Amino acid sequence: MSHPYLTELIARHTPGHALPREFYTDPRIFDADMERILLRHWFCVAHMSDLPHAGDFLVVELGAESVIIVRNRNDEIRSLVNVCRHRGSRICAAKAGKAAAGRFTCPYHAWTYDLNGRLIAAQQMGEPFDRAQHGLKALQVRVVAGLIFTTFAATPLDFTGAERALAQSARVHGWAQAKVAHRRTYSIQANWKLAVENYMECYHCQPAHAEFSRRHVYARPARQGESLEREGRRRAEALGIFIPDIDQYAGAAPKGSELVSLFRSALEEGVESGTPDSRPIGRLMGQFSRHDGNSTYIDIGPVSDFLAYADHGVIYRFIPRSVLQTDMEVIWLVHEEAIEGADYDVERLTWLWHLTSLEDKKIVEQNQAGVNSQFFTPGPYSMREPHPKRFVEWYLRELLEGPDGA
Ligand code: FES
Ligand SMILES: [Fe+2]
Repeated sequence: MSHPYLTELIARHTPGHALPREFYTDPRIFDADMERILLRHWFCVAHMSDLPHAGDFLVVELGAESVIIVRNRNDEIRSLVNVCRHRGSRICAAKAGKAAAGRFTCPYHAWTYDLNGRLIAAQQMGEPFDRAQHGLKALQVRVVAGLIFTTFAATPLDFTGAERALAQSARVHGWAQAKVAHRRTYSIQANWKLAVENYMECYHCQPAHAEFSRRHVYARPARQGESLEREGRRRAEALGIFIPDIDQYAGAAPKGSELVSLFRSALEEGVESGTPDSRPIGRLMGQFSRHDGNSTYIDIGPVSDFLAYADHGVIYRFIPRSVLQTDMEVIWLVHEEAIEGADYDVERLTWLWHLTSLEDKKIVEQNQAGVNSQFFTPGPYSMREPHPKRFVEWYLRELLEGPDGA
């Protein structure tokens, strides 16, 4: 990807407007997105409850890259590059599982690694051969409030601010004492940026999400929601719940630091959760002795987003697959001691965000179909779309300069 091509495309962008078509359709831009943005930021891969025992692993892919996330015998999480140090075969073909006898054995010539990626067996290598020089490459990992993050960056962005924000809010919401109750992947035939821009704005909520809009004040035009938001904050304070807003997303984060944004928004009068009857799914989490009638939105990096209610949590992982294909994995969290059938019902738990995700899949795919047309001209963002507007400005800067301004 040459700079002149990028520079020419960027010059065609009108500030305050959506991006020109090529940013959503050109495979060369997708390759640049991967190299200059996606592989250089942190992203959430799983929750600790996905890997309860030593040897439990899951495999996460991003573009051409694949990584094994595994719990070792010291209860630490390792992020090991899924590329054999012999001749480069993938080691784990399974999406998840348990490493037999605490080992990963390459299916090609049987080089064998332990849970820390150390090479412990390699047949007939002769002398001299130093096993210690041929361990699996390891990526950096952070575990915050039960959430596991990793990054492919050789020099990772500073995660301290994101960690602090997440630790504070997720402590209130009890996410370290949570478990995964359900997960589902929505395959979206659209560029990842259309999916992420859609997630960032609620201009579309009233037209597209009737059930969400009945429950979340965020769906209202800002003016209409002001007094309800104030009332929500008052309810939270009365219960001793204090989670400060943080706005370091898309251009507002210090250079070299990971993006983080956090804000709370009220639920409509009488609504306590995102369930069909708006009642809690069951057991409350974290510091909530009662529902405070709010929801907490957290975004870390460009593709990891979180929503916390008092009684459950939702993780969104956007996984760009190709220029016109994005997977969105949605993971539902409940209290770690909650028992399915007694304390929660999966249908009720997943109802709102399953419905909303299907609605989003449809509108984002229709968006892509329109953007593919030769007649597409990027239009202006509304006053209700400040986040996508800021996102595309940030995106263009990153594409040109990289996250550390290199
Ligand atoms: S490529 Fe893995 S053992 Fe040969
Ligand atoms: Fe939506």
